[in-house]
Amino acid sequence: METIAKRILPRQQRRFLPADERQLGFGDIFSDHMFLMDYHDGRWQAPRIEPFAPLQLSPAAMGLHYAQLIFEGLKCYRRADGRLALFRPKDNFVRFAHSAQRLCIPDFDQGLALAALKELLLIDQAWVPSTPGASLYIRPFIVATEPHLGVRPAREYLFMIITGPVGPYYPEGFAPINIYVEPQYSRTAPGGLGEIKAAANYAASLFAAEEAHKKGYTQILWLDPCHHKYVEEVGSMNMFFVLDGELLTSPLAGTVLPGITRQSVLTLAKDWGLKVAERPLPIEEIIGAQESGLLTEAFGTGTAAVVSPVGRLHYQDQDLVVGGGQTIGPLTQRLYDEITGIQYGLRPDSHDWIFPLT
Ligand code: COI
Repeated sequence: METIAKRILPRQQRRFLPADERQLGFGDIFSDHMFLMDYHDGRWQAPRIEPFAPLQLSPAAMGLHYAQLIFEGLKCYRRADGRLALFRPKDNFVRFAHSAQRLCIPDFDQGLALAALKELLLIDQAWVPSTPGASLYIRPFIVATEPHLGVRPAREYLFMIITGPVGPYYPEGFAPINIYVEPQYSRTAPGGLGEIKAAANYAASLFAAEEAHKKGYTQILWLDPCHHKYVEEVGSMNMFFVLDGELLTSPLAGTVLPGITRQSVLTLAKDWGLKVAERPLPIEEIIGAQESGLLTEAFGTGTAAVVSPVGRLHYQDQDLVVGGGQTIGPLTQRLYDEITGIQYGLRPDSHDWIFPLT
């Protein structure tokens, strides 16, 4: 890690941080520094931390043309005692390595990536907000940089980590959001990229998401691409439903992202002795349960979204109000409180999920 530290340039001024951290939105403000590492001549090299700045990239960089681009998302929290911590960061780098393998991106040293992240965060620690609910979002990504227009895996890449202070992902904050169940378009397919964090998955979601926004919905709930019958995920989060007292989510069958918050929710719910199942969930079953009053809660999980309640689902011509539409269900609230409690150091970390930084 000495190589990284040696290349650090002087700290710049903190820019653009709102006086009131409660006004933080998501993804527009970036901290002073960024981590970079190059891949060429068959190896990763030159790990370094530099001031946050625009990149110099060939217009022929393959990542710009063929979407050989993967990313991760995690957060750094300022805990109640003032110390900084990450939540399950090793799981992010394991998933990142899996995404790299699937997109023919050369494997990287996960230990070095985590050490580099730690160093970056210590340099920019003044950027970690102290307001409950706010945090420093961390975005590792790898993009193919080789200038070449033939379709094949690139021979040059850039591995980067940028960070920035964030508040809630959705404009609604922690208020229930409205979701459009997409009956026609697909985000991914069996054998495709749905289970990795490929930028292409997010590009594939944009058109349908814009159509849904025009109709007044915050997000899309994707159905399985073969039959448009089974509920999958939202794109920015995994989905959970409470049906007749049982916590349900769709299985990881290749088209759904293995969310780290999803995994944490399943673990906590099992700890609490709740009935939990990962199984195919027909949208018709959700509708039937709503009509008979058995659908009591719906929520999404993700690093950015944390645990976000869903108040309304729209499917074809049906509008399904969940739990009165405006209220947060008791299990949704309990899971939010427990997960954020662990992250912010207010509740015991019995699963060893916290990675202390300071
Ligand atoms: C995250 O939750 O970190 C993600 O990467 C989702 C993204 C849509 C913000």
